[in-house]
Amino acid sequence: MENRNTQIPLDNPSIIGGWEALIRQHLHEIKPYSTARDDFKGAAEIWLDANELPYGRYLNRYPDPKASELKETIAKIKKWETSNFLLGNGSDECIELLIKLFCEPGLDEIMICPPTYGMYKVTAKINNVIVKEVFLNEEFQLRVDEILKNVSDKTKILFLCTPNNPSGNLIIRADILHLLHEFKGIVVIDEAYIDFSGEKSWTTLVNNFPRLVVLQTLSKSAGLAGLRVGICFAQIELINKLYAIKPPYNLSLPAQIIALFQLKQYKKQKDLWKIITAERDQLIQSLIRFDSVEKIHPSDANFLLVKVKDASYSYAFLTDKGIVVRDRSDEPLCENCLRISVGKPSENERLFKIWKRLDKSFKKKLQSERIELKKKHSNEKSTFY
Ligand SMILES: Cc1ncc(COP(=O)(O)O)c(C=O)c1O
Repeated sequence: MENRNTQIPLDNPSIIGGWEALIRQHLHEIKPYSTARDDFKGAAEIWLDANELPYGRYLNRYPDPKASELKETIAKIKKWETSNFLLGNGSDECIELLIKLFCEPGLDEIMICPPTYGMYKVTAKINNVIVKEVFLNEEFQLRVDEILKNVSDKTKILFLCTPNNPSGNLIIRADILHLLHEFKGIVVIDEAYIDFSGEKSWTTLVNNFPRLVVLQTLSKSAGLAGLRVGICFAQIELINKLYAIKPPYNLSLPAQIIALFQLKQYKKQKDLWKIITAERDQLIQSLIRFDSVEKIHPSDANFLLVKVKDASYSYAFLTDKGIVVRDRSDEPLCENCLRISVGKPSENERLFKIWKRLDKSFKKKLQSERIELKKKHSNEKSTFY
């Protein structure tokens, strides 16, 4: 494992450049679409400014383009300034906005470190942006020197994910710090699973690193995947630039209202993270005993990457019994790996019980395969003599 000095100074301006020079040329002067809700804010008796239907309650009106009330609530919970972040239609939309802002189609590149979250690559490809890849090492950590060797001035964004999906582990902080100093493009740190890790967020460092962008989401630890609310956190000016290219009404009114309502119970949510992490650790202890399981990768997230002896067999068995996991075997370094989300205690218990049967069935399968093999050998011998 690469070991780096964590004492790198955070505020050395000679090695830290701004993000302004990296944005696509034609976006420097872009004028954002000005909505009716931007032109007039406040209370009014009669609203005749947005060609809405005057009949109906709430849903006949466009939502707040900046989702200001929701942002204030999130800012209070996270102890952030509202000016440092923007809300997207899931963090997937934030990924798209960043690629649109910085990468010239057909010319610029992003760098990713597989196995990692698939949408960085898919979004880049949709936008005709070249994708460079430097795989993680065997411990699912960054190969920092390889990354630096493979970036160029066309590499506008480096996407890092910590804890990483699908491996579940935190990325070594000193490695990220090193890249923040040495890589001259935008470093996006995706913290979708940070609340399950106990690790401190990179958001506290955006004022030291103008090219640092941090993504979070309400889809995971806040339990609101169905609402589609993602968070993009960066220096104020960069956030304002992202606002200029964001679709004006990207967060629906129901999403804003329900998120506000749900976040009132955010303190209780923290108890759920404790349950999930305890269940995760318990699940590791239970599953590792099975013969059909080869290895369980250490996890700082709400899922496990489990290396099994035969992923297709295990996947089919579990699905047949009504349990759906994700087969990640096609990902680099993930041969025969299933990614398993940590469920409720009763669901994990059920998974364990079904896995007992899977294990037995797998052993039987191995046995009959051995018998078949023996038969085949003895047949071959008898025909030879
Ligand atoms: C690392 C990572 N980032 C982002 C997302 C997507 O988040 P959202 O639901 O906010 O679009 C996921 C979803 O699985 C993820 O694993």
